[in-house]
Amino acid sequence: MISDYFYLLFTISLLANSALMVVTHQSSNGNRISDAPKDQMTESKEWTRDAIQKMWSERNLMGSTPIHVIDPPGLPSVRLVFKNESASLTGSLKHRYSWSLMMWALLEGHVKNGTHVFEASSGNTACSLGYMCRLLGLQFTAVVPDTIEQVKVRRIEEQEGFVVRVPISDRLIIAEQLAKSTGGFFMNQFKNAFHAEEFHESGSASSKPSANLMHELFHQLNSTPPSIFVHPAGTGGTLSSIGRYAKKYGLDTEIVLADTQYSIYYDYVLNGTFSKNTGAHHWVAPGMAGIGYGAMGPAQIAETTSLDPAVIDRVLKIPDLASTAAMKVARDVGINGGTSTGVNFLAALHIGALIRAQNPKNQEIFTIATILADSGKYYETTYFNRKWISEKFKTHGGLPVYDCWLQVIQDCWISGKDPLDIGRKMC
Ligand SMILES: Cc1ncc(COP(=O)(O)O)c(C=O)c1O
Repeated sequence: MISDYFYLLFTISLLANSALMVVTHQSSNGNRISDAPKDQMTESKEWTRDAIQKMWSERNLMGSTPIHVIDPPGLPSVRLVFKNESASLTGSLKHRYSWSLMMWALLEGHVKNGTHVFEASSGNTACSLGYMCRLLGLQFTAVVPDTIEQVKVRRIEEQEGFVVRVPISDRLIIAEQLAKSTGGFFMNQFKNAFHAEEFHESGSASSKPSANLMHELFHQLNSTPPSIFVHPAGTGGTLSSIGRYAKKYGLDTEIVLADTQYSIYYDYVLNGTFSKNTGAHHWVAPGMAGIGYGAMGPAQIAETTSLDPAVIDRVLKIPDLASTAAMKVARDVGINGGTSTGVNFLAALHIGALIRAQNPKNQEIFTIATILADSGKYYETTYFNRKWISEKFKTHGGLPVYDCWLQVIQDCWISGKDPLDIGRKMC
């Protein structure tokens, strides 16, 4: 009897408790679970399906960018292969990259019919993403550094994009604020290239072509992986996609990051530093447009950068004035590229000289692959202009140091010696 009484009390208290939990649960998040049976369609996917189809048509139109092969006269066992991304429809490596970003944003539902897209960019991504937005009938606004070349602004405007100029370190904050205040979507290449890069490969398992640069290059080299792939990082999205592809498919290619002088990426990759503290105070203007990481706070993977240290095998640090001089030498030998192309040309000559020193009698040909990322024509008024170089690189030593590097790189092109080693001592 007594036990029945306690059992009854116990049951009542249990029921009261669970009722309380339900009430608490409901009131804490305000959600109710729908009653069964129910059967209802979600939001229409028609526009998105159509947009994705347009993106695949665009991918077919893109085809493959050409490769440009050159044999440095001083390095008989080295072949340099430049993947010429300046030949893509919007003129840079950011064409395939923006394709992937947009594909990711469509699939994840961040971009829908009528979404106003915002992006922080040094110009190339803005132009390419502007193109993708125009293709899909979407509004686009680019938040760019106030130091941007006018020719890049014109390219964005040709794609019907709006351009907002801000100090370089404010780009991300302002793009985010603008998107928030207008109900738009901030694409945020620095953060989301990390996710979107997987979409570069989306063609591999189907009849659709992959947009991964390494995939394309591998086939253009008759399925022989290059010994080295070298490139700098801005967001790090491009190099990470190349490195991931090489690692995932077991390609025997060393992935080399060529970092700019005042960028924190060298230390971030090698020692894991700068992911909690900023390197902004190390940054020295003008830097190399579009590459390096300096003024944007700590480098946190998939937050503020898409550079994945896990796929990088080796890191180089290259002086900015040397890269600027390398742009000129590269152009004189037929590689007419911009800032990152200058870095790539110099880094490749350095690596080539080391290969030669380590294998003096080796008849084997080593392929060093890299990217001609955008055209030199965008930098006529800046990195190819002696007056601009003299002013902007004054604290680096100005024209005398530039001319010294120019001479060293020209000589090493012919002799096969290491321009980085010699220039560091001489210039
Ligand atoms: C000319 C050029 N090269 C290289 C890069 C760096 O590419 P990523 O952002 O994929 O690291 C950029 C970035 O804007 C660029 O404009």
